[in-house]
Amino acid sequence: MKTRYPVHPEFATHTLCDNDKYLSMYQQSIENNEAFWGLHGKRLDWIKPYIQIKDVSFDQQDLHIKWFADGQLNVSYNCIDRHLPTKADQTAIIWEGDNPAESKNISYAELHQEVGRFANTLKKLGVIKGDRVTLYMPMIPEAAYAMLACARIGAIHSVVFGGFSPEALGDRIINCKSKLVITADRGVRGAKSIGLKANVDKATKKAGVKDYLESVLVIKTADHEVDWYDHDHWYHEVSQSVDTFCEPAIMNAEDPLFILYTSGSTGQPKGVLHTSGGYLLYASMTHEYVFDIQPGDVYWCTADVGWITGHSYVVYGPLANGGTTLMFEGVPNYPDHSRFWQICDKHQVNICYTAPTAIRALMKEGDEPVKSTSRKSLRVLGSVGEPINPEAWKWYYEVVGEARSPIVDTWWQTETGGIMISPLPGATALKPGSATRPFFGIKPALLDNEGNELNGVASGNLVITDSWPGQMRTVYGDHARFYTTYFAAFKNVYTTGDGAKRDEDGYYWITGRTDDVLNVSGHRMGTAEVESALVAHPAVAEAAVVGYPHDIKGQGIYAYVTLVNGMAESETLLSELVNWVRSEIGPIATPDKIQWAPGLPKTRSGKIMRRILRKIAANEHKNLGDTSTLAEPEVVVNLINNRLNK
Ligand code: WT7
Repeated sequence: MKTRYPVHPEFATHTLCDNDKYLSMYQQSIENNEAFWGLHGKRLDWIKPYIQIKDVSFDQQDLHIKWFADGQLNVSYNCIDRHLPTKADQTAIIWEGDNPAESKNISYAELHQEVGRFANTLKKLGVIKGDRVTLYMPMIPEAAYAMLACARIGAIHSVVFGGFSPEALGDRIINCKSKLVITADRGVRGAKSIGLKANVDKATKKAGVKDYLESVLVIKTADHEVDWYDHDHWYHEVSQSVDTFCEPAIMNAEDPLFILYTSGSTGQPKGVLHTSGGYLLYASMTHEYVFDIQPGDVYWCTADVGWITGHSYVVYGPLANGGTTLMFEGVPNYPDHSRFWQICDKHQVNICYTAPTAIRALMKEGDEPVKSTSRKSLRVLGSVGEPINPEAWKWYYEVVGEARSPIVDTWWQTETGGIMISPLPGATALKPGSATRPFFGIKPALLDNEGNELNGVASGNLVITDSWPGQMRTVYGDHARFYTTYFAAFKNVYTTGDGAKRDEDGYYWITGRTDDVLNVSGHRMGTAEVESALVAHPAVAEAAVVGYPHDIKGQGIYAYVTLVNGMAESETLLSELVNWVRSEIGPIATPDKIQWAPGLPKTRSGKIMRRILRKIAANEHKNLGDTSTLAEPEVVVNLINNRLNK
């Protein structure tokens, strides 16, 4: 297989950034970091321009991250109002429904009105600056309106993905003390209906939720029966009498914009907090350069707004750039496996940004569903969420892109706010499987486990040695946890939790998490979360969860379960446990395999040896490594004999 793909000569002549420009801008951004961001901060419209640029310390005693701290702006103004003089009639959002017969274009002028109306509706329900608002929404334009409406009045949104259970939704409402939940009667994906409002109803009954939650605002999408409570309000009713203009609130650059919960290796999900100025600047600048956005482009990111990718690259980045962003309600395989490419043809998409798991699933269906479409409009392809294996990369490049479009393999995290390591289409020679080089202002380094920096060709813990404007500011309500999670392992750097190698060209290759975090179809899942869901079941005494290689999902969830004394193993109990995890966390956490484990391999001090469990799950038990610290070796023999992946 070809391992290096130079920049296409014809591409380089039309690009926003060729290699020389990349190298010189990158050098400036590192040598004079503050001046660089001081200059590029001007791509936003400021109500009060900043004088201060960067104020950062990664020290435990004084951990703080501030960018443009004395500047003032409004994020929704930057995403909408400032484009009106030249782009009022340009399409801001193309919405493509789950049903291929449904789509609509929303112009910047319409977006301005819809967001204004939404913002005034929030005010009418008593939402004020600084309040937290939870969104539990399908991929409909109202999800974007609601996010931008919060930004307009200075409320902090927390979007919870619709695939999370009522239990998980309730936890997140409580954690950030949300006053309001915005939802829809239902969501539709692949012609299947998801009872979002019904899930919210269940969440409101969870202990503690009503201590904070005052109202639920419901978007009506269909003639769909829902239960109704005193705290419920229909959006179309409350919004009827409000004005469509809402004055944007004056926000400090460091005022919070949103909270987004993500999984870690221990404990409950953390509320990653992003603020206004630095986040928007970073989302918008990465969006423009990484996707080589040109005037008139139609840009499509397939992510759900429930994830950071949906925040930065469906809503905030593209709209801050005055672009046209496509929002898709459905799934890649409905009504058939050509859907993605039919959408590209229907809306003449120029840039398509999706996830390896979707690419692998479509690749399995063969080339025909792709080849039945034109795809001539495509110019740049993107990948995000997990390492893309070279086979999938090649298929995406050759079959989908007909070798015309570079693939930007973008590495980043919920915590980083925007893309950190990625090719630039007109600048970077591609290597399948490598996220290649850092974005402007990003200084990655590889450390060994003792914290020594490794030079040249090396493999180690990926850290970022200085701050950047899109960096998360804290774990909501738990600044101490912010420190322990990201700054304690290695001093004075941001620890990503990923391992990486660097090759002879200085390219980075992400090798995956170094902690107990799984990546299932590009969704982050803590093994500890799944374990605590399992042990909460009365029949379960102990559980250990690991990932194993999965063709489509990247990683699958493999659980070892020890039952309480006297409980019998059965198929019924097995499916009960699967459903139990789905209701505790949500369908995205569904265990792929559950193996009954009379005992778990432990050290003499009682620590579960996950390394061994990972090997057994991956069917690599012939190579278990050092087992000398095992307390009871016979436990392992039993697990190997009964392993589920053979
Ligand atoms: C983790 C972050 C960034 C938005 C989507 C996921 C993995 C992400 C890549 C990539 C290899 C990747 C990392 C990272 N990851 N993109 N291009 N190549 N790995 O955001 O849920 O915060 O997960 O996803 O392991 O740490 P997230």
